[in-house]
Amino acid sequence: MLPATEGVLTVLGIETSCDETAAAVVRSDGTVLSDVIESQIAAHAPYGGIVPELASRDHLRNVRPVIEAALERAGVGLERLDGIAVTARPGLAGALHVGVQTALGLAFARQLPIVGVDHLVGHLCAAYLQYPEHPVQPPELPFLALLVSGGHTALYRVDELSAAGIRELGATRDDAAGEAYDKVGKLLGLGYPGGPVIDRLAHEGDASRFELPRPMSRRDSLEFSFSGLKTNIARHVEQHGRPRERRALCDLCAAFQERVVQTLVKKSVTALEREQLKTWVIGGGVAANKGLRSTAQAAADTRGVRLVVPIPRACTDNAAMIALSGAWRLLAGDNAGLSLEVSPHTELPRTTRKGRGARA
Ligand code: KG4
Ligand code: ZN
Repeated sequence: MLPATEGVLTVLGIETSCDETAAAVVRSDGTVLSDVIESQIAAHAPYGGIVPELASRDHLRNVRPVIEAALERAGVGLERLDGIAVTARPGLAGALHVGVQTALGLAFARQLPIVGVDHLVGHLCAAYLQYPEHPVQPPELPFLALLVSGGHTALYRVDELSAAGIRELGATRDDAAGEAYDKVGKLLGLGYPGGPVIDRLAHEGDASRFELPRPMSRRDSLEFSFSGLKTNIARHVEQHGRPRERRALCDLCAAFQERVVQTLVKKSVTALEREQLKTWVIGGGVAANKGLRSTAQAAADTRGVRLVVPIPRACTDNAAMIALSGAWRLLAGDNAGLSLEVSPHTELPRTTRKGRGARA
């Protein structure tokens, strides 16, 4: 469903599915009134990945001040809200519960309607967010969506912005793109998360210096596999040690990034052609990647395709995308009431099998 034209709702969004505690106030026409994100990266960094118990504890500590800050920055009191949207799936169950219980408490106290939002649908809705300093021409339906986050990597045909209107065309058989970045970051001693730092180093490197395989290079397949590429980097580090010179480190990062980006873009182009789509949306944390953004833009330009990629802060986890996705559902009359439940799984249909076996 797309936003209805009449009646604009003001919605509080809450996101606690992973390692960001976030709250935002957004109107159903896409206007972002506030967008507050409290990252837990520093708490998890010493462990090289997310520790679920730490995440829940930090969400508990942060959720209230983050919501208060979002309301204050928006200049909107609880009495001016028309509803609440909260990430209810997929994610860490304990972390999701913190956001959902908080949202339920507020909805009950203020007698507000509430909806649970699928985090992945939220990432796709980020393309519609209107930040005052960055207005966008919203994408037209139907479109191709490339979703690239830390936990998911998939291509979807989007006919409507609800689970029923989204069809998976292909997904990863193993690691998500962001997961591959994070694992390679760890192998190279670059800390967690690996994505942003590899992106920076790759910018200075020469992608042709190291031979690395092209993941799932069969042109007609829309499935991804990144674990072979990661294993190659692991083997390289085993044989030669971590690059000691900055030049070699940048070159290795550039080679890795080039393989990932080329694969994501090539498969997206195949999907655009197969589905005869002229609009392409990229969402999820890896969509913040500079290499992906520029290569995708060049591919879109040569094919007369319109590419919409949210500003980097709206690509990584945030509550504005959750608020907007929920605002449209509230406009359509949805209200989960007090029966809202969490789930570790997405509601989006999944057709790609994980693991080894014949490739589609
Ligand atoms: O969407 P997101 O914030 O959280 C999930 O829903 O997973 O995505 C986080 C992922 C991490 O794996 C992180 O390394 C990756 O996005 N990431 C990037 C960049 N910024 C974040 N990957 C590549 N380049 C970036 N600039
Ligand atoms: Zn995410």
